[in-house]
Amino acid sequence: MSDKATLIYEGRTIELPVVRGTEGNPAIDISRLRAKTGLITYDPSLANTGLCRSEITFVDGEEGILRYRGIPIEQFTKRPDFVEVIWLLIFGHLPNKEELAEFSTLLTENELLHEGLRHQFQYIPVDAPPMAILSAALTSLAFFHQEFLAVEDIESVIQAAARLISKVRTIAAFACRRSLGLPFMFPDPKFRYCANLLHMMFSIPYKQYVVTPEIEDAINLLFILHADHEQNCSTSTVRTVGSAQANLFASCAAGVCALWGPLHGGANVEVIEMLNRIQAGGISPEQCIRDAKNKDKPFRLYGFGHRVYRHYDPRAKILKDACDRVFAQLHRKDPLLDIARKLEELALTDPYFIERKLFPNVDFYSGILLRAIGIPTNMFTVCFAIGRLPGWIAQWKEQHADPTAKILRPRQVYTGPAKVDYVPMSERA
Ligand code: SDX
Repeated sequence: MSDKATLIYEGRTIELPVVRGTEGNPAIDISRLRAKTGLITYDPSLANTGLCRSEITFVDGEEGILRYRGIPIEQFTKRPDFVEVIWLLIFGHLPNKEELAEFSTLLTENELLHEGLRHQFQYIPVDAPPMAILSAALTSLAFFHQEFLAVEDIESVIQAAARLISKVRTIAAFACRRSLGLPFMFPDPKFRYCANLLHMMFSIPYKQYVVTPEIEDAINLLFILHADHEQNCSTSTVRTVGSAQANLFASCAAGVCALWGPLHGGANVEVIEMLNRIQAGGISPEQCIRDAKNKDKPFRLYGFGHRVYRHYDPRAKILKDACDRVFAQLHRKDPLLDIARKLEELALTDPYFIERKLFPNVDFYSGILLRAIGIPTNMFTVCFAIGRLPGWIAQWKEQHADPTAKILRPRQVYTGPAKVDYVPMSERA
């Protein structure tokens, strides 16, 4: 296989190096292209552009493969433990017993919010968008933990990561309780990571929520499946902000804002609202499919399609199976799951979706599983953010540790007016 690409332009031949990773697409290194030719490249949504080298996650969109530090995503489903995946993503290896115990203790020690941050919640409108609360609260962690604004060594990264990962649950739970008009439940150190979130969301004074093993496994699995996904929109946002040497809190808060978008993490809410509309009789599954194909309609089949997967998203497959398992364990059914299955059946046999290789993505079934756990719809994207936070931290840390990393500054193709002179007010129309 060649390690050079040849470009012929205006009679000149330029050779560019080809970079190869462990697997995946080889890349033409264009870092010297402009200096050599005066040319830049044009790739508006960066779908063909490698932002960085990374050792964290590998996705093969054509084959529907997702691996964290080389481990296929399917291998985390048997005994899902989100905290060990957090360690794997951030520190590059599965933790041994001591590492896992120490990190779990660190998360427990950092689960409370500073009282100054807790009191801020009383001024937040009860109908405030939870993703707005989450982004603001992550930024405000910089008020209360200024010692971590400049993380220079691995120990301070561990400490900053522990505060973010532990407190994101408390922030999410407090946002949920605020929207429900319920008193805040403080984190309880006797609970493991995911169980503590459910305790804070669902317990009431004098009546502790009982976390069943099935539900605890389901939420661990959900967070694992959302934990990282290469250079998706929110992760590349975190890298962009972090490339300016902005602190970890600010970088992750920016990631929350990107994830909020309905084309990205916000899709899990759109899917449930779409399924509810179908169930309420406002629209049939067949009409939904027709609308999704109709370019004159702003409607998309949320939970379908992907920038990278041209195959069934492996996470969607795992989530679909998890929905079946959890509903059977709970001896419950959800009509929305039946509707989702019908939509999938119609879409996967429809030429429009087949030709465009549109398959269910991670958001198609995640909302149904979150509903089964009892999470309110307005908290779905916040749950995506809780899952994705370790991935953002891992990617930020990888870039921060790279001595060759520079501030991200893409170029453009300018299409505005050529040079014109300033027109004084007296001479304007
Ligand atoms: C996530 O990048 C990641 O890794 C993201 C993520 C992660 O873990 O971080 O996986 C999480 O964000 C998953 C995606 C969640 N979003 C949705 O479910 C929203 C619905 N999906 C789409 O809006 C869409 O598929 C995107 C945004 C995901 C991708 O959009 P693109 O880049 O425009 O899709 P494309 O270029 O592959 O589209 C090709 C064609 C177009 O039609 P034509 O111009 O060829 O006629 O497919 C059409 C699109 O209009 N199309 C859809 C569609 N998705 C693409 N048509 C109807 N319904 C859809 N869902």
